[in-house]
Amino acid sequence: MFTPAPNSAAMLARRDRMPVINANKKTNPIKHPAAKGPRIFCDSAVKADILPLLKAGLIHGITTNPTLLKKAGAKSWKEAKAIMKELCALLYPLPVSLELTELTEEKMVKQATELGALGKNAIIKVPMGGYPAVVDGGDPFTGLKVIRRLWEKGIKTNVTLIFNTTQAVWAANAGATYISPFLGRVPDYINKNDKKGLTPGNSLYWMGEGEMKSANSEYVASGGEVRDAGARLIFEIANVYANYGITTEILAASIRNPVQVTECLLAGADILTVPANVLATVADHPLSDSGMVGFLEDSKAFSA
Ligand code: E4P
Repeated sequence: MFTPAPNSAAMLARRDRMPVINANKKTNPIKHPAAKGPRIFCDSAVKADILPLLKAGLIHGITTNPTLLKKAGAKSWKEAKAIMKELCALLYPLPVSLELTELTEEKMVKQATELGALGKNAIIKVPMGGYPAVVDGGDPFTGLKVIRRLWEKGIKTNVTLIFNTTQAVWAANAGATYISPFLGRVPDYINKNDKKGLTPGNSLYWMGEGEMKSANSEYVASGGEVRDAGARLIFEIANVYANYGITTEILAASIRNPVQVTECLLAGADILTVPANVLATVADHPLSDSGMVGFLEDSKAFSA
């Protein structure tokens, strides 16, 4: 398990600048114990996943992406927009992240305006980078330029597909409201593509064939546990943001299981976006269940 260093004064000062999410109630003498606790978003576009958690007051927003919209049944752009619009209305005023699918600066800025019109609580997800795998001769700074343009237009952004601390800092400098480090994909990728014995590059650990590089798992290259590389990414970002008093919010994403939920909390994520099926397992525990069986059995002694 990932064991971060104790929180620095800078980390605590940054925490103080985060929004209150559990306000006190005048009618309730008990002050809420987690005024600025971590926010939990549901990582889904499926209403049936979201509604129960929303009604119970257990989530503070949702994140979507083209894969999640496809899972929600969208078979056309029109259907995808209809789902996004409905989710914005359902969650209002809580934030709903809607991902751009265009690939060039002007088209992305235009699409951002289009998606922003789906709801005042729409947050525009801007993929980090220049998308060279899908854009011939693309500008590596496309994502950063779009973030900057949207900040200048007063449009909130969630910069997605973040895999190293440098990307996270550049996105913040460009004006990102949120950044989404993909915690789960880092160890996934390392486990599949790790080339042991290769020396680490410029804070990048050379993996895969040829020029393929990946996340800043220098931590792994220096002997850290592969399984902790994702949590380390969150921890590095949280510390660097604290060093500079950056209030861009760290929205930990690509979470696969309850252990990674714990790691994100230990590492200092501000928000965790978690699939509904993982949220269900986080809430429960085999020993909680078996303990309840015993208490229920013994409580029958009082049933008379
Ligand atoms: C959320 O905003 C991300 O798009 C999502 O968590 C990615 O998860 P995945 O790595 O399972 O695709």
